[in-house]
Amino acid sequence: MAMNDGPGTTSTPENGTSARVRNRIGVGLLAASFAFLVGAIIVAMQLEGKSSADPDNPRQVALGRSVYERTCAYCHGARLEGQPNWQEKLPRGRMPAPPHDASGHTWHHPDAVLFGITKHGLVPGKYAPPSYQSDMPTFAGTLSDEEVWGALAYIKSFWPPDIRKAQREMTAETEQKRR
Ligand code: HEC
Repeated sequence: MAMNDGPGTTSTPENGTSARVRNRIGVGLLAASFAFLVGAIIVAMQLEGKSSADPDNPRQVALGRSVYERTCAYCHGARLEGQPNWQEKLPRGRMPAPPHDASGHTWHHPDAVLFGITKHGLVPGKYAPPSYQSDMPTFAGTLSDEEVWGALAYIKSFWPPDIRKAQREMTAETEQKRR
């Protein structure tokens, strides 16, 4: 539209333009506040340690598989079967590595505990009795949180639906109690 169309013709297009601009600002603000809300929810979920290990997320499970095979399998077994006679103490008094599949007791723990044990080991007084000694290493310096959650997602992908459900419910209950 040319600038010098004469007096009467400029007002309508101008009004139309400013309404469009206002609309665009409105949509922009809406999108921004929506993005903020989504971000806030994600941060809140992470702070609360909600289930960030999702066995139905193929990408996370694939990452977790490589983490598991590299860092966990030589103790917990390539098929998550654990070490032989895992329920009996070793001659030096420590426990062997338990299985992570449905036959073990990994699924008896809520997500936050599994994350804590994997990242920090069986911290005495927190995840084990005081002065407890364990062969479970700490991975705080070598694995990122994302890799720890990935390994747990991979472990969960071996569990049958009823066990996944039971562990999910336990995780939700523990989250509720902490609030
Ligand atoms: C050097 C051997 C070793 C490696 C490597 C290892 N673990 Fe362990 N893990 C153990 C042992 C041994 C225990 C049992 C400790 C005990 O009861 O004293 C254990 C226990 C656990 C438990 C608690 C299970 C339960 O039922 O209470 C989790 C969870 C766990 N390991 C996850 C992992 C993950 C995930 C990795 C890889 C990132 C890993 N571990 C690597 C030896 C190992």
